[in-house]
Amino acid sequence: MKFGVLTSGGDAPGMNAALRAVVRTALHYGHHIYGIKNGYQGLIENDMVLLLREDVSGMLTKGGTFLGTARSKDFTKVDVRELAIRNLQKRNIDALIVIGGDGTFRGAQALIEMGVNVIAIPATIDNDLGGTDYTIGFHTALNTIVEAIDKLRDTSSSHQRCSIIETMGREGGDLAIYAGICGGAEFIITKEHSVDKDKMIQTLAEWKKEGRRQAIIVATENIFNVHELAEEITEKSGFATRATVLGYIQRGGAPVAQDRVLATQLGVYAIELAMAGIYGVGVGVRQENLVNAKISDILNEVDDRSPLYELIDKVS
Ligand code: F6P
Repeated sequence: MKFGVLTSGGDAPGMNAALRAVVRTALHYGHHIYGIKNGYQGLIENDMVLLLREDVSGMLTKGGTFLGTARSKDFTKVDVRELAIRNLQKRNIDALIVIGGDGTFRGAQALIEMGVNVIAIPATIDNDLGGTDYTIGFHTALNTIVEAIDKLRDTSSSHQRCSIIETMGREGGDLAIYAGICGGAEFIITKEHSVDKDKMIQTLAEWKKEGRRQAIIVATENIFNVHELAEEITEKSGFATRATVLGYIQRGGAPVAQDRVLATQLGVYAIELAMAGIYGVGVGVRQENLVNAKISDILNEVDDRSPLYELIDKVS
């Protein structure tokens, strides 16, 4: 067989590990595999190279994606996708493996509807895709955030301050929830778990009076302007507050062990499904088991609220 593989959307630690598993497994079974540069953009621009075993040497531990990634707006256009499909046909590529988040899965679904054999591997730090308990990159980003919270707690405590830490996650709250639990945050703010701002400020004012040395608030991006919130808390509660937006640092770094294992499992599984003629699916892991589901179903799945939400009010 001839495969094509690409990474698309926001990068996530472990994408390289997934590429390594996909490439090595394809070669192991005697197939050819093309690496497509910069996501769907490379498919449009016919920017692809035949990959060899040595091209993925040392990739298990490296952050980012050696193929590059992009968010291609053009790919939403039918005529652009037709061009991309012609580029696959020119090289007789039988199946395409795409690695990325929900935008990548949507691109895959559009190709499937035009007759392309696609399998999608979930990789995004947000952990906001259906069809899997965890996405590749989530645990590494989580560890980065937890490390930052631990450090911010040190300085907050020294200065008797409250720290607000803004995490990525787009609409999804998993990074904030998991990190908030791991970092012992006093307040966790996500779309799924909103807090009453006035009550929070009142509580902080009481804590200040009681002489508490520090407090941690973890908030998902796009809910508050955290710098304005910090000023408001400082003014109204007397608890000096600073905000730290962690930003893109959450997307970098060597993948942690959990992401390396997941990336390897899903990469091998994707190639083996393709060899069995199963296409149009996204792969994932559910309670330690490898699973696959139609990409259209994954995109329609309502992401379950993490059971960790039940813990927040009891331990914060
Ligand atoms: O989807 C991953 C993610 O890192 C989100 O958490 C964040 O909102 C977004 O990508 C940022 O996207 P961009 O790299 O396009 O600025």
